[in-house]
Amino acid sequence: MTARTVETETVARLVADAVTAPSMHNAQPWRFVFRPDDEVVELYGDPERAMTRTDPDHRALHLGCAAALFNLRVSAARHGLGARVRLLPDGSRPWLLAGVSFEAAVDGGDELAALYDALRRRHTSRLPFGDEAVPPAVLDGLRAAARLEGCHLTVPGTWHIETLLGLVHDAEHLEETDPLVRAETAAWTGGDRSPGPTRRDGVPAEAFGPRSSGGPAPVRDFGRDRPVPDRGWAVFEKRPRLALLGTRGDTRADWLLAGQALERVLLRATADGLATSMTSQPLEWPELRWTVRDPLAATGHVQMVLRLGYGPAGPATPRRPVSEVLEVR
Ligand SMILES: Cc1cc2nc3c(=O)[nH]c(=O)nc-3n(C[C@H](O)[C@H](O)[C@H](O)COP(=O)(O)O)c2cc1C
Repeated sequence: MTARTVETETVARLVADAVTAPSMHNAQPWRFVFRPDDEVVELYGDPERAMTRTDPDHRALHLGCAAALFNLRVSAARHGLGARVRLLPDGSRPWLLAGVSFEAAVDGGDELAALYDALRRRHTSRLPFGDEAVPPAVLDGLRAAARLEGCHLTVPGTWHIETLLGLVHDAEHLEETDPLVRAETAAWTGGDRSPGPTRRDGVPAEAFGPRSSGGPAPVRDFGRDRPVPDRGWAVFEKRPRLALLGTRGDTRADWLLAGQALERVLLRATADGLATSMTSQPLEWPELRWTVRDPLAATGHVQMVLRLGYGPAGPATPRRPVSEVLEVR
């Protein structure tokens, strides 16, 4: 009998690293299945964790799952393994988003492994950042990270940043008038979410950050409807450093590329000492989404608005244990 390339214990470690990924409202909409006989890890989207109102076509769900897939690749590289990924390998099983098989090593493995230390340091920071600029060389590194995953990252100029802030504001208004969106957000956020403190998902109140006292901030205010004791106010940076992650197309395969690129950019940024947050608010409304793109840049379809800067890291948020998300068959 030949020795296996990957054992169940190793897969459990890879999945523990994978689930540190970001996901909309920290819903963690993923499931992993390891098939030891085939040495394949399958990644499934979990429809029970979909946001039916905020994310009806499951674009954000795909992004979160693909971010976890990228982490799995980083972890495999750190364990000296190459991960061969097939996206959407079986058209008859639409929730099967990727199949990953393993081999001794692949080209580019060192670059992936170098991001490993950032996995558990990356947290969304909804705190104010300083006003200092991100050096061009650092931005170049982030653009290259997106390109390596088949996507592009553009850094909008001043007038376009103003437009983006306005669109975030418009999205907030639309949310306010949509009770179903508000109910969905409330169900996934806040410290008092049922069924109680044992719940290992959602955005806890500690991660909300302060309210903005100086005009609109490009940070989602999860506490707008429910006051959080001792939350406080703060002035956010006047000219936030934003970046747009885009894809050429807008299919499910594009979303899976975008999620991997998103995590690669976030980990690269974390490794470079940047704090990060994301906003998908204007992307959640079709009437706003198309105006997010920079008409002067080849952004294609915008998949995420990132905020970058020098500032405090956000707190760690909970994750479901591996035993809940990994099945061995
Ligand atoms: C597709 C997607 C959309 C997101 N949208 C927002 C957003 O609009 N505002 C925000 O503050 N965070 C957003 N996030 C960040 C998540 O809230 C965050 O990843 C999650 O709460 C887990 O926390 P962590 O990133 O600190 O691990 C988004 C993340 C993903 C992957």
